[in-house]
Amino acid sequence: MSNSIEEIKKEVEASVVSSDVELEAFRMRFISRKSVIGELFGNMKTVPAEERKAYGQDVNALKNLAENRFQFHIDNLKSGAKKSEDHPDLTLPPIESQFGTIHPLTATRQRFIEIFERIGFNVSSGPEIEDDWHNFTALNFPENHPAREMQDTFFLEKNPDIALRTHTSSVQIRVMENEKPPIRTLSPGRVFRNEAISARAHCVFHQMEGLYIDKGVSFADLKQTLYHFAKEMYTKETQVRFRPSYFPFTEPSAEIDISCQICHGEGCNICKYSGWVEIGGAGMVDPNVLESCGIDPSVYSGFAFGMGIERITMLRYGIKDLRLFTENDIRFLKQFNSL
Ligand code: PHE
Repeated sequence: MSNSIEEIKKEVEASVVSSDVELEAFRMRFISRKSVIGELFGNMKTVPAEERKAYGQDVNALKNLAENRFQFHIDNLKSGAKKSEDHPDLTLPPIESQFGTIHPLTATRQRFIEIFERIGFNVSSGPEIEDDWHNFTALNFPENHPAREMQDTFFLEKNPDIALRTHTSSVQIRVMENEKPPIRTLSPGRVFRNEAISARAHCVFHQMEGLYIDKGVSFADLKQTLYHFAKEMYTKETQVRFRPSYFPFTEPSAEIDISCQICHGEGCNICKYSGWVEIGGAGMVDPNVLESCGIDPSVYSGFAFGMGIERITMLRYGIKDLRLFTENDIRFLKQFNSL
């Protein structure tokens, strides 16, 4: 019997408790009424009368030992929890933090600006809510001319003179009104058109327009500048072609195409199996526009171009649906981690 007391004593002394579950196990084994020590008390009757006193004293001592040890474990657990509150465990692996990524439209806009800054362009901005003069009239859109309808404008209901700008050509008017040539400027920004949202069109999108006004600027300068842009934005192998077109504010005007960046001329559904994709419009600034802005067209000439940043970005990364740009799907955005 006393042997058993000895063994239990050793067990109590060697016990380690590091969680509430282990504490409860300790309580069940040594403290509760059905514990091993409780059992020893139960055995009292079977102990010969002359040994009973000594036995009782031993079991009582064991009981005290177990209770002290139990309290010791409780205190230990409490102070352990407190310690970890005061001093976080610096050896634990950190929780992985999620960094934001550069939006592909932002990355493309930045790259665009970088390319043009190196050839002397600056960046200008203007209001998204525009008056008729800056969005249309100064840009040589005649009153009641169908060209105004080409742009599906959102007008203010109460004041048809005010609209959401349909292009950032309006910013170029503001620059020409306020600065003297030479002017070399880029105007990036949001523009608005009343178009149904689809994989290829949106009622809100981003444009990058460029303007160069100086003495003796020619169509050759325009072509060379856009060749340079296409090779810098895409690859040295990228081809550019111009197709005759019409804009009220440029004459002559052209549509700009580049060789398809997706299939490289093999034919795919992005380029509709033609090998070419349109990226924007361009032309020589119409003398009427220069005059509207107080620039003498007999002294100065210039070129302008305009592109959709969404389109440029889609071709850059092979993105097939421009709705992805505004859906904020983290799985899409995370792919541009390295920009
Ligand atoms: N402003 C035109 C558009 O939004 C693009 C353009 C700009 C065309 C400059 C020619 C010259 O469609």
